[in-house]
Amino acid sequence: MPTPYAYFKKQIVPLAEAKIGIMTHAFNYGTAVFEGIRGNWNEEEEEIYLFRVKEHYARLRKSCRIMRIDFPYSDEELRSLTTKVVEISGYREDIYIRPLAYKSSEALGVRLHDLEDDFLIFVQPFGPYLDIEKGARCCTSSWRRVEDTGIPARAKVTGIYANSALAKTEAQLNGFDEAIMLDERGHISEGSGENIFVIENGKLITPPPSSNILVGITRDTIMLLARLELGVEIVERDIDRSEVYVADECFMTGTAAHVTPVVELDHRPIGDGRMGPITARLSQLYFDVIRGKNPKYAHWCLPCYSKVKA
Ligand SMILES: Cc1ncc(COP(=O)(O)O)c(C=O)c1O
Repeated sequence: MPTPYAYFKKQIVPLAEAKIGIMTHAFNYGTAVFEGIRGNWNEEEEEIYLFRVKEHYARLRKSCRIMRIDFPYSDEELRSLTTKVVEISGYREDIYIRPLAYKSSEALGVRLHDLEDDFLIFVQPFGPYLDIEKGARCCTSSWRRVEDTGIPARAKVTGIYANSALAKTEAQLNGFDEAIMLDERGHISEGSGENIFVIENGKLITPPPSSNILVGITRDTIMLLARLELGVEIVERDIDRSEVYVADECFMTGTAAHVTPVVELDHRPIGDGRMGPITARLSQLYFDVIRGKNPKYAHWCLPCYSKVKA
């Protein structure tokens, strides 16, 4: 039976033994930054491929700079620690890896300075987050996306996820699958844990980083695949809420959500209310790439188990 392990306080330990004290600064004040990395199971090869590990840790470094968290790990150390935690946990299914750098001092007082920092990684089995076939029924959230002048959304700060949680719960309790948040100017920003794309006249349109989005790695993957493999033009610009209502297609992207079609917004079906043709082609391409089935993009996929088998 697979058992989840963690990297915690500079050691690899069973997840059940990795506990923090109740006074930990990050727990009290939301002063941690994190990543979500997918490990995608490839049944034929009996392999887990970690997707775009380098890019996830590059984003974590940026988040640490914004939040003044000391992060003294090299790319090679991070790669090795991450694959070790996965290897020893032994899952044979899709997983989710959570690296988290945090203010670890057990101290009262809201601030970022004069505190100790630490870093941990844990792993969990994790199937699809939303229905990637049927798509998501979404609502426009009454909660606005937190602005760069409040907490910078380009940093994946734990504290920001109170904003996402308010939106997600409101959406689900109102019978929707996911919330789409507007920025303070009233333009589309993103989902509670996903970036958004609309397709109009064959063009792929998505809000720019200045719309207070987390600049997603899946977003970048899809933009690259759309341009290089399908020859689709990409436009980064503001999107109005009503523009989504009349779009030909709409989908969300994220490490958890993969590529999830948005089939309805505020009770209005988008397109014919099902996954659209460009979304379907992108989704097919994306799933082959993340499971290590497309040699052209093998450099994005880090195998975890082949070393053990060898
Ligand atoms: C708020 C938010 N936006 C967008 C994303 C998508 O980012 P990525 O594709 O890097 O997972 C996530 C997930 O990490 C998220 O939490």
